[in-house]
Amino acid sequence: MGLYEQVQETVRAIRHRAGSVSPKVGIILGSGLGGFADGFEDKVVIPYADLPHFPHSSVPGHAGRLVLGRVRGEPVVAMQGRVHVYEGHTPTQVAFPARVLCALGIHTLVVTNAAGGVNLDFQPGDLMVITDHLNLSGYNPLNGPNDERLGPRFPDMTTAYPADLQAQLLDSGRRVGVALKQGVYAILAGPSYETPAEIRMLRILGADAVGMSTVPEVIAANHMGVRVAGVSCITNLAAGIGGKPLSHEEVAETANRVKDLFTRLLEEFLPT
Ligand code: 6GU
Repeated sequence: MGLYEQVQETVRAIRHRAGSVSPKVGIILGSGLGGFADGFEDKVVIPYADLPHFPHSSVPGHAGRLVLGRVRGEPVVAMQGRVHVYEGHTPTQVAFPARVLCALGIHTLVVTNAAGGVNLDFQPGDLMVITDHLNLSGYNPLNGPNDERLGPRFPDMTTAYPADLQAQLLDSGRRVGVALKQGVYAILAGPSYETPAEIRMLRILGADAVGMSTVPEVIAANHMGVRVAGVSCITNLAAGIGGKPLSHEEVAETANRVKDLFTRLLEEFLPT
């Protein structure tokens, strides 16, 4: 079965379980940010394990369920947890859930993640509107034969994160009383964090934040013609900036501290 048929089969399984849903916005919730979907109205929760072809996560803090529902009346679908290439999944598998959300008919995909601050003006707890990305992972989910029913062989990435959605996020930030940062998100393959020399390199290259996720899904959504808005939660300073070692515990702790603000931001933003 080809990728296109797999996506269609998963969409059918979701509709079988949730009814003839037609979410308008999809949200991928990163490390520690999954709580946002707990507050949806008219919730339908589907564990990834119940969906054909859907990859599961093995990382603690990634719940692994699809949540359909409404936010201020708007039909939405959220992923609580995502998988990463460093867990052993292929880039195609990592992008698969984003393709399913797109095939459900969303017009906008909101991607979120926990990221390390590379920009020296950033502090742990800052929220950053993603203005663009640097794909330094060495992989791309579009590698391999292209199915034109999904999208073009060579998709344009000039406006991978459309400016009007960035402006709308900044507006939402002002309304909930948070000064959002803006910047370029760089993805490296991981799972080791970077060395201080790598962080200096990333800063020279124009990165403001660094992580190990999100870009495969953004490429797949752009491939399928779906607009993307991105927010990084700066959970920690990247290597060599703060003078202390990095840990997943700090990442989880900061994400947990910011989650209420993050939820208010997304609730304000969502009826797009
Ligand atoms: Cl400093 N680096 C990477 N690659 N991912 C992260 C991070 C740093 N902090 C949170 N996630």
